[in-house]
Amino acid sequence: MTISTIYFFVNGKAITLNNPDPELTLTYYIRNTLRLTGTKLGCEEGACGACTVVLGKHDENHGKVVYQAVNACLVPIYMIDRCSVITVEGISKDRIHPIQERLAKGHGTQCGFCSPGFTMAMYALLRNKANPSMEEINQAIKGNLCRCTGYRPIMEAFYSFSDNPGGCCGGGKDGKCPCKEGDEPALAAKLTTFTEMPKYDPTQEIIFPPQLSIKNKSPVSSLFLKGYRLTVYAPTSLNEVVKIAKEIPDHKIISSGMISRLVLGLSAGQDDVTWISLHRIPELEKAEVADGKLVIGSALSLGQLQAFVYENHPNGKELLKIFKKYSAEQVKNTASWAGALTSAAAASDFCTLSLATNSYVHIFSLEDQSRKRITVEQLFHSSGKTSLKPSEIITAIEFDANEHNVRYFSYKQGERRGADSTIVNGVMRVEVDGDQIKSARLVVGVDKKPQLLEAFGHRFENKSIPELSSTFDDWSYDLGTNFDSSMPDFHFRMSLVKSFLLDTINHLAKGDEYKNLEINTDDFEFLQLYQQTVDNGVDACGRPLAHQFADRHAMGEAKYVNDLKFEGLLHGAPVLSTEAHAEVLSIDPSDALAIAGVVAYLDERDIPKEGTNTPAKGHLCLVNDDTRVFAAGKVEEVGQVIGMIVAEDVVTARRAAKLVQIEYKKLPAILTIDEAKEAKSYICDPLTFGKEEEEVQSALNGSQHQISGEVSIGGQEHIYMETQSSVVVPTEDKEFTIHTSSQGVAIAQISASVLLGIPSNNFTVKIRRVGGAFGGKAITQCGFARNPALVAANKLKRPVSVVLHRNDDVLITGKRHPVKCQYKVAFSADGKIEAVYFTSFVDAGWSTDNSVWVSNVIGSLATTCFKIPIFRSQVHVLKTNKQSNTAFRGYGQPQVYFIMDAIVNHVAQELGMNFEEVKELNFARVGDIAWAGSAIRNDGMLECWEECKRLAEWEKVQREVEQFNNTSPHIKRGVAMATTRFGMPHAGPLEAGSALVQICYDGAVSVSIGGVEMGQGLNVKIQQCASRALGLPIERINLLEVGSDKTINAPVTGGSQGADIHGKAVQKCCEKLLEGLKPFLEKANGDWNTAVFQAYCNKVQLQASEFITIEREQHGLHGHDPCYYTSGACCVLAELDTLTGEHKLLAVDIVMDCGESLNPAIDIGQIEGGFMQGYGLMTCEQLVYNEKGRLLTDTAYKYKIPTVQMVPDKFRVKLLDGISTYPEQIYRSKGVGEPPLMLGSAVHTALLKAIIAKRNPTKPLIFDAPFTAKQLYKHSNEE
Ligand SMILES: Cc1cc2nc3c(=O)[nH]c(=O)nc-3n(C[C@H](O)[C@H](O)[C@H](O)COP(=O)(O)OP(=O)(O)OC[C@H]3O[C@@H](n4cnc5c(N)ncnc54)[C@H](O)[C@@H]3O)c2cc1C
Ligand code: FES
Ligand code: FES
Repeated sequence: MTISTIYFFVNGKAITLNNPDPELTLTYYIRNTLRLTGTKLGCEEGACGACTVVLGKHDENHGKVVYQAVNACLVPIYMIDRCSVITVEGISKDRIHPIQERLAKGHGTQCGFCSPGFTMAMYALLRNKANPSMEEINQAIKGNLCRCTGYRPIMEAFYSFSDNPGGCCGGGKDGKCPCKEGDEPALAAKLTTFTEMPKYDPTQEIIFPPQLSIKNKSPVSSLFLKGYRLTVYAPTSLNEVVKIAKEIPDHKIISSGMISRLVLGLSAGQDDVTWISLHRIPELEKAEVADGKLVIGSALSLGQLQAFVYENHPNGKELLKIFKKYSAEQVKNTASWAGALTSAAAASDFCTLSLATNSYVHIFSLEDQSRKRITVEQLFHSSGKTSLKPSEIITAIEFDANEHNVRYFSYKQGERRGADSTIVNGVMRVEVDGDQIKSARLVVGVDKKPQLLEAFGHRFENKSIPELSSTFDDWSYDLGTNFDSSMPDFHFRMSLVKSFLLDTINHLAKGDEYKNLEINTDDFEFLQLYQQTVDNGVDACGRPLAHQFADRHAMGEAKYVNDLKFEGLLHGAPVLSTEAHAEVLSIDPSDALAIAGVVAYLDERDIPKEGTNTPAKGHLCLVNDDTRVFAAGKVEEVGQVIGMIVAEDVVTARRAAKLVQIEYKKLPAILTIDEAKEAKSYICDPLTFGKEEEEVQSALNGSQHQISGEVSIGGQEHIYMETQSSVVVPTEDKEFTIHTSSQGVAIAQISASVLLGIPSNNFTVKIRRVGGAFGGKAITQCGFARNPALVAANKLKRPVSVVLHRNDDVLITGKRHPVKCQYKVAFSADGKIEAVYFTSFVDAGWSTDNSVWVSNVIGSLATTCFKIPIFRSQVHVLKTNKQSNTAFRGYGQPQVYFIMDAIVNHVAQELGMNFEEVKELNFARVGDIAWAGSAIRNDGMLECWEECKRLAEWEKVQREVEQFNNTSPHIKRGVAMATTRFGMPHAGPLEAGSALVQICYDGAVSVSIGGVEMGQGLNVKIQQCASRALGLPIERINLLEVGSDKTINAPVTGGSQGADIHGKAVQKCCEKLLEGLKPFLEKANGDWNTAVFQAYCNKVQLQASEFITIEREQHGLHGHDPCYYTSGACCVLAELDTLTGEHKLLAVDIVMDCGESLNPAIDIGQIEGGFMQGYGLMTCEQLVYNEKGRLLTDTAYKYKIPTVQMVPDKFRVKLLDGISTYPEQIYRSKGVGEPPLMLGSAVHTALLKAIIAKRNPTKPLIFDAPFTAKQLYKHSNEE
């Protein structure tokens, strides 16, 4: 019988779907049809884990129900027939689940966009094992990305489910941590202890629906689904496959359909495609042990294969060790092993593994129904393809489970640690006899195909392990002759293979004792040291309270723009330029418009004549930015928005957008800083700061020592987890409500008005929360979703949503500015820097955006933490044909901190001094006057530096590093320190705080501010301020959604000062209200509710609003001088494998001065998250373009942000107490969002020191950032 119906459960509710479109993914169905929006979409390609759900299904091979985490964005809907789907909403029906509670209370959520995904990844693990090990937890969440937290709090929250959470004790009874000798007893050592929280109780879990159990006992029927452009046959026998294949010769055989659907989903093709899916054939779903063989059917996923092999192969764990480095459990649980094997690709870990085992593959012919059994070696064709005929399908793989004295060694290296694709992988099967190698079969995936190095493998044979170790260098020299030396990065790849071989020998020699940069959960030590507040019962300030929305984040209840639903909502998808620089000769949207469901094509011609295509230009948007909403006549980057397709649903809109035909006339493109310099392509005149040219030249010429050099730092992509999103709802008579993921309400309101030529008071902007921003949603960039939505809503008179696909977001939006700096430095013999002349070149991209302001910061703050008597800085802001670069956490300062540290390094190396010694000699101190005249005040950088040295045991660790490096030939260590000193608040209109405080006459308090909550914990800090100001418990105070109808003209939220300015405004409002309430409070003996009601009856104003700026003049401060500095220091101990370029952070100690912290948990969260972002900037995050100017690293998979596996083994953060603060600061606190990012620079220096330890240079070594694995390898091994 063939059916076209699928039956499944979601959160315990039975669902029957008739003929669903087989192209539909599980995410779209649960989000859009069931409105279960807790499952988020961060990448739509399996790379981020935000869409993780759990599938419960009956596993025939185990005779039980198994639960597996999957990425719902990868799963075609029809694959969940007979499954029980559990979403984040399903685990917390009438209670908060222990996972959610620990994640929320453990401060594991900031913007919260990733939280449901992490929750569900952990949930799947606990459903299978109630007491997992830390290693198992790391594996379970390795495929989940978080851009905010830096992962530590997530890991700690989840480790609390482990019987042996290891690492630090979490604080003794007196709040002192016994793990850390000599800590002040008053300091708390953990933000959260989990021991009091409800335990995980598996018996409370949602059960597998009995109806499904019954259904699963009945035989499965064949399935036939006809979709818009995809038809799927899922037969239940091979005979049926034969029949269908004959009837429809133009078909494709698939297993899970995961990769096939992903590829199809990205294509605009309109042709009918037919798949024959093998996943319902019982014969292929079997896994069995027969005659010492494991025979595993091809309908099983890699995850199912792994589970079966682990259970039934005597050496299963070692055999499949390479799976530890598979990118994500969620992907492994969906992807079929058969689909992987047919790729025959070097990058496929399963291909390399199965060629090394040379397992047998069972093949069935659809032509004559014959069966055969061939080895993987026979399957893999020499050209990197399989030898399968189109009519042949794989039915099973067969592993030998009778092996004795066989060991497996495997290897995989990507561009970052964890969750990565493969640069090189390898598996070696070794037969041992005592300490002799009897046989060795070596397979490596280096270029296009997995390669069996038969002859080379023989060199291992009949040798003892000590012999192998001692002679390795002699016999491994000609490794490269096995490969095509014209492949990209040939030497690097060869070195990776060599490293794999050495690793194998070392493992053979030393057993488990040998660890090479492996993650060792025993080493984990996470500490958070801060001043505990005295609990007086009411005042919430200073307490490490969880984020306002923490529970909602973890429970999936927090709504983001893409989760909002409106009647008649249309969806927009941008049409993007494919040329870097060209005239647009014609635009033909007819193919797109012909698709059912497409409503319109829009471009700059649809902007009303009263409006403008450059809404950020002019004085109203502050930055005077010429960025165009739609390209007009010419395009200036690959990814520039030309127009937009609007359709009834988002999938149709995106598909149709790809069909718009654009005819171009190419123009010469400028793609690099050097090309822009050469072409004199500038955004503005050079910006100059500091002394006159002659004075600097004469200081340089007159100095004892003079050096010059050049150093560059690359750009950085924001990867906020929520992509740019806006929904515009026309209400009445040219009035609109705008829901936007933006950092600024006022700017969204004003730019909408300018864009459409409609008065600003016709627009109400609402921002509930933003799923991460980091500067990338500040002014212009968030307009890339909002402005086209406004144009469409205005024209079509219907609500329009524009939520950018990750790929579009990365291609369209600007990034951190890449900078190249040429420097000249004069210094004395004892290391004192006397003069520096910086000439910096900033890549602004195709339009102005924030580039002039960022360049001002780059020029004016170039000396960072140092006192440099004579300084001149000139900045050239270059126009290139790339994304228009923009604000990013730190706003130019991370670039100059890196550059200045490189300069200090250069001086240190020149003089043979220690880098930190030279730093210390040149630090600017409190009271020192910066070149522009402002004094350093209210700053604790030097105290942080000293405390950091103590915390990290600086002297000792340096000695240990030296000793280590003396005895370790390939693995080298480096330890380095960095500082940050960040002036705040930023003067001018940015300094204006706005608030509205309303007291309902039942005593409840509502607060609205002009600042946007985007993960930085602004809301809870404001609640804490209001709690102190009103003397009320925090539970009485609610912070409302930000709206232009409540607070007007608020600045863009940024610059780390949201709590400073809006907290002050709230404080003032509260003081005003208390003034009116005073007589009633006295009369009511302080009883708040009575006093408020009496005040209400007496017509007392119970609402107050304030618009304030920070008072400066009264405290002797003028102009733009910072009122205070948020400063800190950090020490990084890094380990580098110089053969592979892979590295690991062994320890990171950070000490920061946050004044009297309003909320230590939020501040420490910002410090850890900021550091990890800075760490990414220095290492794995690289923007790679092709020669045509197209960004190649244009997805969350290709652009590598730090992962869980990159978290330092020891991560200790201390908030320093008692440093002087500015009297106008809100409750003596300091802002902290951006400053810690600069500390990432220490990673670069630590790795540089490790390289120096390997190379012993005669000349100073100064290297650009980022230090990718390839760069680290290259620099370590250069002569
Ligand atoms: C986000 C992501 C992360 C990944 N990470 C990794 C990683 O870390 N390491 C790694 O090695 N790989 C990784 N992969 C690759 C992944 O393992 C493969 O793409 C997957 O296994 C292919 O199987 P599938 O079930 O999706 O194939 P399907 O879409 O079902 O089929 C793909 C193709 O395989 C062929 N095929 C499938 N089954 C059969 C059969 N039984 N007989 C004959 N031909 C068949 C067909 O030609 C079909 O066109 C990743 C992929 C993604 C999307
Ligand atoms: S949205 Fe599915 S993995 Fe990112
Ligand atoms: S909290 Fe994880 S991405 Fe924001």
